[in-house]
Amino acid sequence: MADTVKILTADWGRKDSHLLATYLESGGYETAREVFSKYKPEDVTAQVKASGLRGRGGAGFPTGLKWSFLPKDHGKPVYLCCNADEGEPGTFKDRYILELSPHMLIEGMIIASYAIGCHEAYIYVRGEFVFPIERLQGAIDEAYAAGILGPDVFGNTGFALDIIVHSGAGAYVCGEETALIESIEGKKGQPRLKPPFPAVVGLFGCPTIVNNVESLATVPWILKNGGEAYAKLGTEKSKGTKLFSISGPVNKPGVYEVELGFPLKRFIDELCGGMKAGSKLKAVIPGGSSTPILTAEEVETLNLDYECCQAAGTMLGSGAIIVMDDKTDMVDAITTLAHFYAHESCGQCTPCRWGTDWCYKILKRINEGKGQPGDIETLLEVTANMMGTTVCPLSDAAAMPIQGFLKKFRPEFEARIKG
Ligand SMILES: Cc1cc2nc3c(=O)[nH]c(=O)nc-3n(C[C@H](O)[C@H](O)[C@H](O)COP(=O)(O)O)c2cc1C
Ligand code: SF4
Repeated sequence: MADTVKILTADWGRKDSHLLATYLESGGYETAREVFSKYKPEDVTAQVKASGLRGRGGAGFPTGLKWSFLPKDHGKPVYLCCNADEGEPGTFKDRYILELSPHMLIEGMIIASYAIGCHEAYIYVRGEFVFPIERLQGAIDEAYAAGILGPDVFGNTGFALDIIVHSGAGAYVCGEETALIESIEGKKGQPRLKPPFPAVVGLFGCPTIVNNVESLATVPWILKNGGEAYAKLGTEKSKGTKLFSISGPVNKPGVYEVELGFPLKRFIDELCGGMKAGSKLKAVIPGGSSTPILTAEEVETLNLDYECCQAAGTMLGSGAIIVMDDKTDMVDAITTLAHFYAHESCGQCTPCRWGTDWCYKILKRINEGKGQPGDIETLLEVTANMMGTTVCPLSDAAAMPIQGFLKKFRPEFEARIKG
């Protein structure tokens, strides 16, 4: 498989890649300009459907299909919300787009807004992203000044579009799409029960599409080259390229773009320059902290695509690869993660509010050498009851890694309990 196709990262090596002038030099905004004269809104959605693009925010839901769920003839405004909350531990790919290619995201949002009939779009960014917000707002200001955004997009389309940056206050749960909507509305960021889904009842009670930064930034390439060209990249069911952020004891951690289906072992050995001297691979969390962990043996055969991850009992998630070496203390690692989820639970569902806290307390005492016989069984039982019983999937996201660590590295927990 070629690892040279660069869609999202094409400009990253260029000086001032974030500036409008640089983006225009590389043909930026030409596609969006053309789309207005070349396509009807439904044709744009059809191209995105044909591309097979699946949402890059974690759940992998087909983007074009989501857009087509919007009700017709409802008479209400339609909103587009770009999800740039990026709160999952290990995930840091979207901020690179905000910092290095903000105009690519804006162009994607213009095309998406045209497709869905949105005239007021929001970008929800976590507040800690001070520099990415600065870059993003700078790009939006440039786009307004050039007449790319505003009451008449590109000055000749008669299409009005405003893009508003909304800075979040740093709650992981606000990345969940309905909590994000509540937060933009000025309320406490708590997930809503679904259905109704945001496509039907979303921001301010109106039809709303929530898409991840990477998903939207991919749209200009799809419209420029055609949905079919995108669908030729990647694998049968996982089309296109994807950004992966990789952290841990590898020689070159960072953000890489590869075609879906790229072998994880090759990713670590070739792109990331292998493990650091003196470090031996022990385990990998492939798609962000909520995705079940893989052992070093499982890494040998895993390809980075939706279906292969599912077959291996894990998920591609948001594409945050966390590498662990032989010096990693698994009890300590999962205790840290459990603490994160207990802290981030919004508290409205009992299995999540109590479960995350209970698991953290048990893991903490095991980690401190005060574990008791039966602790592992209790953890397995509590986590089983946290799954599929709550308003949003944060509870599942907290339970799955604990189950994965216990399943794959149980002897380490038993040894710590025995003392
Ligand atoms: C607890 C939680 C946190 C989430 N955080 C993010 C996030 O930071 N960014 C993101 O795009 N999606 C996040 N999601 C997924 C969103 O709910 C939603 O599926 C996504 O933004 C849709 O965009 P996509 O279809 O382009 O992937 C999160 C989901 C949950 C349950
Ligand atoms: S699962 Fe947890 S985070 Fe999600 S709504 Fe329920 S309590 Fe809140």
